[in-house]
Amino acid sequence: MLTLGIETSCDDTSVALLEGARHLRRFLVASQLEDHEAFGGVVPELASRKHLENFLPLLSRLLTECEIKNPSREIHLIAVTDGPGLMGSLLIGTTAAKALAQVWEVPLITVNHLEGHIFANYLAHDDLFPPFITLIVSGGHTELILVRSFGDYVLLGATRDDAIGEAFDKIARLLGLGYPGGPAIEKAARGGDPAAVALPVPMADSPDIEFSFSGLKTAVIWASKRNPYLRLEDLCASFQHAATEALVCKVELAVRKTGIRKVAVSGGVAANLELRRKMKGVPWKTYFPPIELCTDNGAMIAAAGYNAYKRGERASLSFMPDPSKSL
Ligand code: KG4
Ligand code: ZN
Repeated sequence: MLTLGIETSCDDTSVALLEGARHLRRFLVASQLEDHEAFGGVVPELASRKHLENFLPLLSRLLTECEIKNPSREIHLIAVTDGPGLMGSLLIGTTAAKALAQVWEVPLITVNHLEGHIFANYLAHDDLFPPFITLIVSGGHTELILVRSFGDYVLLGATRDDAIGEAFDKIARLLGLGYPGGPAIEKAARGGDPAAVALPVPMADSPDIEFSFSGLKTAVIWASKRNPYLRLEDLCASFQHAATEALVCKVELAVRKTGIRKVAVSGGVAANLELRRKMKGVPWKTYFPPIELCTDNGAMIAAAGYNAYKRGERASLSFMPDPSKSL
């Protein structure tokens, strides 16, 4: 059974073909990084226009490369992200999915973007079964979720203010490192001393599972203003250390509170090598997707959609995307 996965919730247009539950035939991503770089972040209006331009060429490339000659016979299911995300961006993907489902006469499944990130790990690890804890860390989310079973999720805690990826992006912009900030800061931090600047590990003393990155962002900016001779690599390494430490600290708390010793990390920030290194030295089992499945992609949406289809879910052609959809 072949599932077409469609993801357009933010600034990446992505399509994928998945065979059965886990066999990924191919996934393609049309990145808009260059379009948004000059603005230092995603411009929603520009993002939806770019999705519109990119979608059909990307889909026809996918079908050609996978040698799909008759999609209405060969593709059995369409899975599309319907939120959370940017309304204009979501509308492009969901409208395309509705049209294709109608023309090809195949069933349609809507996928919560966060559930998609959970399924990036499912795709990569066939030994990952619920219950497990998942940490979603991206430009829009910092959430710890208990996966009781697929389709049954309990929010354990989230950020009070900025998402961790947002903090990476904002700090990089203020330091003139460009967009996206995560990879730029990671690169700039190489060779830096993570103990050079004493930055607070956010929420470390709180007994609750919650995050906060806004104060850390301010502390980084102040440190750079107060000491103009501070080496960039030291400042970036110190920030990266404090930010990733906050994640490890709250994952540890979630493991203690739930007694569940399996943790799957996903989302764009899961590509960070310092975070991956830290999560190796812990007394619980940690899963990461391959780097290319950390950021937004249609493969994880296809996998989540196929699973939901097998659970009996279906979407009608009249659904509307929900920019603030929760799990
Ligand atoms: O999951 P994603 O592609 O989109 C959202 O759903 O937000 O994540 C993008 C975020 C951006 O904030 C980006 O700066 C961050 O992930 N990111 C990283 C790294 N690669 C991407 N953050 C830290 N280190 C990285 N290597
Ligand atoms: Zn995402």
